[in-house]
Amino acid sequence: MSADVSRSAPANPAKRAAIAIVVTVALTAAAMYVMGDAAYLWVKAVHVMAIIAWMAAMLYLPRLFIYHAEVDPKSDTSQTFKVMEKRLLRIIMNPAMVIAWVLGLWLAWTAGFLLSGWFLAKLALVTALSAMHGYLSAAVRRFAEDRNTVPARTWRILNEVPALLMVGIVILVIVKPF
Ligand code: HEM
Repeated sequence: MSADVSRSAPANPAKRAAIAIVVTVALTAAAMYVMGDAAYLWVKAVHVMAIIAWMAAMLYLPRLFIYHAEVDPKSDTSQTFKVMEKRLLRIIMNPAMVIAWVLGLWLAWTAGFLLSGWFLAKLALVTALSAMHGYLSAAVRRFAEDRNTVPARTWRILNEVPALLMVGIVILVIVKPF
C-alpha cells in the first residue's frame, strides 16, 4: 500500500516555525538569566548544533531529488520519496533553519558584530542559503504533486550549491578575514 502524501492533511509550517522561535527565544532568555555572560558560549553551541542539522538536511534533500526525478511518479518508490522529503523538510530542515537564524542574530547583537564586514558578508551568504532552502521547499511541494520538471542532472548540480555556500560561511565566521 502506498502513502498518498499529496492528499494528506496540510501541515502548518508557519505555526511550526512560530513554535520553534518562541521555544528558542524562551530558552535563550532563561540561559541569559541563569548564566549571565557564560550564556554566549552555550547559545553558540546550540547555534552550531542547529546548523549541523540544517546543513545535513540541505545536503540530503537535493540528493533525494536526484533519485526521485528518475522514478515513475506513480510508483511506490515515488510515494516513499515523497514521505521522506516531506518529513526531512518539516521535522528537521525548517525548525533547524529558524533556530540557526534566531540564535545567530542574538549572538551577533550580543557580541556587537552587526556592522562587522565578515558578518555582513556571512549574512549575504546565509540569505542565499535561505533562498535555496525556499527553492528546495517549493520543490518538495512540486514532487508531492507529481509536477517536478527539473531533470536529475540539474539536481546533481544544484546539490553542490549548499555545500559551496557552507564553505564560504564557515571561513567567514571562523577566520573573520575583514
Ligand atoms: C542563519 C543566520 C546566521 C547568523 C545570523 C549567524 C551568526 C553567527 C554569529 C554572530 C556567530 C558568533 C561568532 C563568534 O562568536 O565569533 C556564529 C557562530 C558560528 N556560526 Fe553562524 N550564523 C548563521 C548561520 C550559520 C550557518 C549557516 C553556518 C554554517 C554553515 C554557521 C556557522 C557558524 C559557526 C561554525 C560558528 C562558530 C564560530 C566560532 O565560534 O568561531 N552559521 N554565527
